[in-house]
Amino acid sequence: MSDKLIIFDTTLRDGEQSPGASMTRDEKVRIARQLERLKVDVIEAGFAASSNGDFDAVQLVANTVKESTVCSLARANDRDISRAAEALKGANSARIHTFIATSALHMEKKLRMTPDQVFEQAKQSVRFARNLVADIEFSPEDGYRSDPDFLCRVLEAVIHEGATTINVPDTVGYGVPELYGNFIKSLRERIPNSDKAIWSVHCHNDLGMAVANSLAGVKIGGARQVECTINGLGERAGNCSLEEVVMAVKTRRDYFGLELGIDTRHILAASRMVSQTTGFVVQPNKAVVGANAFAHASGIHQDGVLKARDTYEIMRAEDVGWSANKLVLGKLSGRNAFKQRLNELGVQLDSEAEINAAFARFKELADRKSEIFDEDILALVSDESVSQDKEHFAFVSLAQHSETGERPHARVVFTSGGHEIQSESDGNGPVDASLKAIEAHVQSGAEMVLYSVNAISGSTESQGEVTVRLQNSGRVVNGTGSDPDIVVASAKAYLSALNKLQSKADRVAAQG
Ligand code: KIV
Ligand code: ZN
Repeated sequence: MSDKLIIFDTTLRDGEQSPGASMTRDEKVRIARQLERLKVDVIEAGFAASSNGDFDAVQLVANTVKESTVCSLARANDRDISRAAEALKGANSARIHTFIATSALHMEKKLRMTPDQVFEQAKQSVRFARNLVADIEFSPEDGYRSDPDFLCRVLEAVIHEGATTINVPDTVGYGVPELYGNFIKSLRERIPNSDKAIWSVHCHNDLGMAVANSLAGVKIGGARQVECTINGLGERAGNCSLEEVVMAVKTRRDYFGLELGIDTRHILAASRMVSQTTGFVVQPNKAVVGANAFAHASGIHQDGVLKARDTYEIMRAEDVGWSANKLVLGKLSGRNAFKQRLNELGVQLDSEAEINAAFARFKELADRKSEIFDEDILALVSDESVSQDKEHFAFVSLAQHSETGERPHARVVFTSGGHEIQSESDGNGPVDASLKAIEAHVQSGAEMVLYSVNAISGSTESQGEVTVRLQNSGRVVNGTGSDPDIVVASAKAYLSALNKLQSKADRVAAQG
């Protein structure tokens, strides 16, 4: 059995299924590039048949990423599989991931199919896919709650048809480590041709055990692929977190004895990029990537770490991309220094025009904020609410007045489809007044389901990073914005969410 553990990242597919985490095509490509830098083995870029937007995103990722295998999800039917193959045409290395539910509950209530029909469809789909692409992954959805005898029958058949990876999802996060690990082990032992495929685990985090279950699937079950997402992003309580599973296998190499291809130094940048893009804030005590993950507050711990680092630290912060929160650039820094820092942070901007625009924003920020940290630079390049040429709505300026005892008032200037708009409103506070001013003109009718502010680098001198989540006609989107002035950051975040609602509406319209 191989001693390499394959890391399959599904941030752009399963992660994106989390309500409010939808990403634009360009955001997906930016994250895919970061995943490639991280040396992820397989990137699941989306579900090509689900919409024209998803098709385009998978296609663009396939055409851009060269080092990692690019994968598209497809239901077990010819149309989905053909769309996936079509979107993946430009990939250096392509994989189709096809799935069908196999639990009694899903077959009867969701698919309204008999087990025999599901068996035939699974077989037929893998055969069809195998004629289009050599690398085929098959997943029995809700596999962990499926009847083991039936599952063995299906999995043996799809391996026979040419499936090269067999993924066993714990779709609803019901597993516990020992049982899930043994489940994988027994499938591998019972299925006569199980050695012809690589076994994979895919665990959801409903009971907080996704990472533990995945690791048990590897250690007890002998799986050699883990499906995971950056920051554990994903539907409901999320998926297995990439950073945790990777650092567990690396740090406890003595126990797992497995090799990884991952360049862990890019983990933190990937975590920040995903968090800033989706607006899903990382909790401070989150393992590996949380702000406190390597902070020692208690005197005893600080003393110990100063004397000998390994008294309280089992990993080195710099191995996952943490550097001291040092002042990296200032007002006098030139374009080259800025560009070099972007490179060091793993940020790749497409053209000189994009670098120039980001540099102009950096200079503007440096005029208002004396110290510029890495976090500021990352926020600055992910802040798309100011890139007027690409987005429908873009922030221009804001003036607001608030005084104790008076009702706050705001005037916001922004562009809508290239036309400058000026709109005013009052509100309960300056943020409320500013967002009402925008809404007074746009009239999106969207309901705000979340508003949160986070200080990017800790102090009141920091930039505020605002997340706004809007819901409209069943669609949920997140917008983020950053600025030293949190009222401005809020207006940017609101405009960014409106842009996403707009682009989702365009995508739906394009599908007809
Ligand atoms: O959780 C799940 O079952 C899935 C499959 C489509 C692999 O995401
Ligand atoms: Zn899943």
